[in-house]
Amino acid sequence: MSRPHIRLGVNVDHVATIRQARGTNYPDPVEAALDAVAAGADGVTVHLREDRRHIQERDVRLLAERLDGPARVPLNLEMAITESMLSLADAVRPPHCCLVPEKREELTTEGGLDVAGQVDRVRDAVTRLREAGARASLFIDPDDRQLDAALAAGTPAIEIHTGHYADANPVKAPQLADDIRAFAQRAHANGLEVHAGHGLHLGNVQPIASIGEIVELNIGHFLIARALFVGIGTAVREMKQRMLESRVQ
Ligand code: PXP
Repeated sequence: MSRPHIRLGVNVDHVATIRQARGTNYPDPVEAALDAVAAGADGVTVHLREDRRHIQERDVRLLAERLDGPARVPLNLEMAITESMLSLADAVRPPHCCLVPEKREELTTEGGLDVAGQVDRVRDAVTRLREAGARASLFIDPDDRQLDAALAAGTPAIEIHTGHYADANPVKAPQLADDIRAFAQRAHANGLEVHAGHGLHLGNVQPIASIGEIVELNIGHFLIARALFVGIGTAVREMKQRMLESRVQ
């Protein structure tokens, strides 16, 4: 399937990681997000974690305001399904919210949300977000059981967890990319908007970006690391170019 456009959502969590390491007010993830948008990012993603290890509520509130101004790209708030996060989404009204699992002790999100084990709870969260004007997506592993549950929960979108693909050795990775392709096709055929993300970088993004059913990639750690050497504008432009080239091959 040929679908030329694919959006890049830039996750700026790790700009905040550097700020929090010293308790300073720089570097500012809001400034990084606006630079990323100026370089062609199609959206900005942040994960407000329960332990506030990187992004703070101030960042979410300011991003919601500033991205709604002249920058005009959607803010995608990644969040766990908790009452305090759903209340924050009610107050801040980000256009997109991605529901993720969260464990305090993990270094980063380690796997997809177990939708199958809590369909009613996920359905309630999706409904509540819709009422707050936010489009939900569910971060899930490429597993048919989770897809069936996501459909039952009434979500309009999913984000496929690509972390296991990104961690796989070069012998296993092509098979995992094929599995993600088949899964994306099934999700799309069932009417879902399909995104993907986690662990993607310039060297492994091509097989995922080439999947026509996937219309958005959310990428963070690599882009912020690359920005240390080339600046965030160049890091974003390089990634978008690689994604768009992957589409036409
Ligand atoms: N998508 C989701 C749902 C995530 O939780 C993360 C990590 O915060 C990402 C994408 C981006 O992953 P990475 O930082 O590895 O690019």
